[in-house]
Amino acid sequence: MPYPTSVFKTSVYLPDALKRRLEAVAARTRRSEAELIREAIDHLVSEKGRPAGAPDPPVPGRLVGVGVGPGAADLVTVRAVQALRRATVVVAPCTSPEAIGRAETIVRGAAPDVVVERLVFAMTPDPDDRADALAAAATRVTTLLDAGEEVAFVTIGDPNVYSTFSSIAAALVAARPATPVVTVPGIMAFQELAARSGTVLVDGQQSFVVLPANATRSPLTDALADPTRAVVVYKGGGKMPAVAAELLAAGRLDGSVLGELLGMPGERVAAVADVADRPASYLSSVIVPATAGESA
Ligand SMILES: C[S@@+](CC[C@H](N)C(=O)[O-])C[C@H]1O[C@@H](n2cnc3c(N)ncnc32)[C@H](O)[C@@H]1O
Repeated sequence: MPYPTSVFKTSVYLPDALKRRLEAVAARTRRSEAELIREAIDHLVSEKGRPAGAPDPPVPGRLVGVGVGPGAADLVTVRAVQALRRATVVVAPCTSPEAIGRAETIVRGAAPDVVVERLVFAMTPDPDDRADALAAAATRVTTLLDAGEEVAFVTIGDPNVYSTFSSIAAALVAARPATPVVTVPGIMAFQELAARSGTVLVDGQQSFVVLPANATRSPLTDALADPTRAVVVYKGGGKMPAVAAELLAAGRLDGSVLGELLGMPGERVAAVADVADRPASYLSSVIVPATAGESA
C-alpha cells in the first residue's frame, strides 16, 4: 500500500492471543503487521466497516433540521436522537446567549450528553431586527458548514411547521445553493393535545386545517364555517378571549380544548370555555373538533 505524504505514529497494546493471530496473518500474507493494522483501522472507521444497522455517519457540510416535539423528552423520536448524536455541531435558537431556549431544554432531557450551541434570534416585532438576527445566525451556520461540520438545528415540534428552521434553511440555500438540507420530523403540539385531551382529530369524511390565530388569508371565522372541518389554532395564546368569542359565535366552543405549555413546567390541558377569560402563554394550541361528517 503506498504511503500517504504525512503519517502519524501511534501505539496500541495488543493482547497476546491477538498479537499471535496478527503474526500468523502477516506471515501467511507476506505483509507487515503495521500494514495489516492500518488496513484494519481504515476498515473500522470507513463505510465498509460499519456494522449493519449502525447509525449513518455525519455528512460534512450538511444542514439537518431536527424536530424535537412539543416539550416532553419521551416524545423526541429515536431518529431525532440519532441525528443529534450524529451531527458534529448541534445548534438551537434562543432569545439571548444566556437564555436556554425551549428546544435546547428538550434536548437536555432527551439526550443530556449532546452539547448545544445557542443561536440568538431576536423575537421582536421589528422586521429589520428579525432579518438582522436571521442573517447573523445564517452566517454562523455557514461558517460551521464551510468548516465541514454536519450541523443539526433543533426546533420544537416539527421543523416544517411554522419553524425558524425554514427561515434559516432558506437563507442558507440562497447564499450557499449547494448546501444539502434534510429534516427529521417531530411530533407536533396539536398531536400531543389530541392525545392528552382524548380528542379524535378527524374521522370519516372530515378534514382539518392548522392556522395561526392571526391568519389573514383564511381567518378563523371562515375555517369554522364548515362543521366537517376540525380547526387547530396555533399562536393564539395571547388572544384566548377573542379566539373563544369566535368559537362561541360559530357554535363551536363546546368540545374545544386548549393545551398550554405541553410537556413543560406549568402545562395545562383544559376546555377553552373554562380558561377563556384571560390570555394564555404563547405556547398554547387549540383544537376545535369537527361537529359533523364522522363515519357511522
Ligand atoms: C412557532 S410555532 C412552532 C410550531 C412547531 N414547529 C410545531 O411543529 O408544533 C409556535 C406555536 O406552536 C404551538 N406549540 C408549540 N409547542 C407547544 C407546546 N409545548 N404546547 C402548546 N402549544 C405549543 C403553539 O401554538 C405556539 O404558538
